[in-house]
Amino acid sequence: MRLKEIQLNSKELRDYIDLVGYEKDQTLSDLREATKSLGDASIMQIGSSQGKLIEIICRLGKFSKCIEIGVFTGYSSICIAKGMVDHGKLYAIDPSEQYTKIARDFWKKAGVDNKIELILNKGNEALDNLLGEGQKEEYDLVFIDADKANYIDYYEKSMVLIKPGGLVIIDNTVWKGKVLDHSDQSESTSTIRKLNDIIASDERVRHCMLTMYDGMTICQKK
Ligand SMILES: C[S@@+](CC[C@H](N)C(=O)[O-])C[C@H]1O[C@@H](n2cnc3c(N)ncnc32)[C@H](O)[C@@H]1O
Repeated sequence: MRLKEIQLNSKELRDYIDLVGYEKDQTLSDLREATKSLGDASIMQIGSSQGKLIEIICRLGKFSKCIEIGVFTGYSSICIAKGMVDHGKLYAIDPSEQYTKIARDFWKKAGVDNKIELILNKGNEALDNLLGEGQKEEYDLVFIDADKANYIDYYEKSMVLIKPGGLVIIDNTVWKGKVLDHSDQSESTSTIRKLNDIIASDERVRHCMLTMYDGMTICQKK
């Protein structure tokens, strides 16, 4: 196989990354297993190497105040909380009682429940509340991984909430390659494509789009 023909999302490569690509964590493996019981919805969970990267970033930056939009069963929130300083607080936003019940159980098992405050609400309303409380430029990180149609609103509100030097990390920015298919004008794909264009010319940030998993863009506020 010539090098350029290697499939970057082949099963073989995913298996290899699972073997050698990140440090294993029993609670996170148990959570991935438990989430499978939700059937098709389980694909919403972030990838393991993605989670590890986010954890390392939070540890490197000594992050103490973070927001997550889109908790699901808690995988990414555990990664963020693990990387944050001991007294750190992650405000984890999701309107689903069903999903976040599982997250709460696993936050305890992972020993990070003291670092996470669940906000059982829709992303826009929750961010508006934080903005209304005057929390501008207070946060080190906002991780966006929720309903795609609101991604641009989440990005703009996050830009106000994070400190200069802080990060907005957006999941699914490659959206299974659909951003390249201009015949796909569905709301989710169009919104992600438009957000990618906004970020590309946004002078407020330095940014880098990673092709890991379903694509993840890291934006650092200048
Ligand atoms: C892709 S999943 C998040 C995956 C999660 N980050 C993880 O690592 O497992 C998307 C989540 O967004 C939540 N969601 C749906 N609509 C939302 C909204 N309007 N505001 C905030 N979260 C929403 C869903 O309940 C779901 O749990």
